Amino acid sequence: MRSSPVFPLFVSLLLFALGACKQIKTVSDPLSLDNVDELVAGCVVCHGVQEAQRGPILNGMDSWYLRDQMDKFRTGIRGANPDNRSEHLMGVGIRNIKTDLEVAYLANWFASQPSQPAIRTIKGDLQRGEELYQSRCASCHGNEGQGESHLISPSLTHLEGWYFYQQMRKFREGHRGYDPRDEGGRVMAASVQNLSDSDLRDIIAYCVESFGLEEIEKSNRIISSERSPKPF
Ligand code: HEC
Ligand code: HEC
Repeated sequence: MRSSPVFPLFVSLLLFALGACKQIKTVSDPLSLDNVDELVAGCVVCHGVQEAQRGPILNGMDSWYLRDQMDKFRTGIRGANPDNRSEHLMGVGIRNIKTDLEVAYLANWFASQPSQPAIRTIKGDLQRGEELYQSRCASCHGNEGQGESHLISPSLTHLEGWYFYQQMRKFREGHRGYDPRDEGGRVMAASVQNLSDSDLRDIIAYCVESFGLEEIEKSNRIISSERSPKPF
C-alpha cells in the first residue's frame, strides 16, 4: 500500500475550501412542522431496527451530513442508478419529501435521537486497521472518527459494520461518488482506491471497536419471525 503525503494535504485544502463555500448550516431555531410524525414514520419503515435487510440507522449522525445526503437523493446525485439497488430504494424513499424545511427538520430529528447498540459483524486485525486508519483516513475524518465538517467529512462513530463495509466497497467500485456534481463523494471515492477487502475489514473492525457504536448484548437481540411492513 502506497500513498503520497502530498495528495491528502492537497485534497484536505480543496475540501476545506468547498466546506467554506457551502456554508454548512445547522438549524438552531425550534421549527414547527405539523406532519413531522408522519414524515418520520415514512422513514423508519426502512431506517428502523426490526430486521437486517434495511437502510442504515441514522440516529445520532451529524445533522449537516444527513441534510447534505438528503439533498443528494433529492437531486439525483445519489440514488438515480437502478443497478445500485439499495441506494435506488432510498431514491424512492425521498420522494415524499418536498421542501427544504422538511429536510432540515428530519435531519435534526434523526441527529438528536440516542444511538443504539449494534451487532458486531466485521472482524479484522485491529492493529493493522489502526495503522491504515491513521495514515489513510484520519486526516479527513479525525483521529477519533469524529468527522470534520469544514472538510465535509462525516463522523464515522454511528455506523454499523455492515453498512460501513458496503459503502466503502461502493466508493471503491464506482457505485457511490461517481456523479460529477458529487464533490465530497468523489474525493472519498479517490481515497479508498487500492485498498483490498481485507484492508477494509481491518479498518472497519478498528473503527467500530475504538469509537463505534456499543456492542449489543447477545441476550438482548430481538429475534422476531414477523416481518416489518416494507414497500418492497
Ligand atoms: C424504501 C426504503 C427507504 C425509505 C422509505 C427511506 N430510506 Fe433512507 N435509505 C434507504 C437505504 C437502503 C439507504 C442506504 C443506501 C445505500 O446503500 O447507499 C438509505 C440511506 C439514507 C441516508 C444516507 C445515510 C448515509 O450514511 O449516507 C439518509 C440520510 C437517509 N437514507 C434518510 C432518509 C430519510 C430522512 C427518510 C424519510 C424521508 C428515508 N431515508 C426513507 C432506504 C430508505
Ligand atoms: C480526503 C478526505 C477523505 C479521506 C482521506 C477519507 N474520507 Fe471518507 N469521506 C470524505 C468525504 C468528503 C465524505 C462524504 C461523502 C459524501 O458526501 O457522500 C466521506 C464519507 C465517508 C463514509 C460514508 C459515511 C456514511 O454515513 O455513508 C465513510 C464510511 C468513510 N468516508 C470512511 C472513510 C475511511 C474508512 C477512510 C480511510 C480509508 C476515508 N473515509 C478517507 C472524505 C475523506
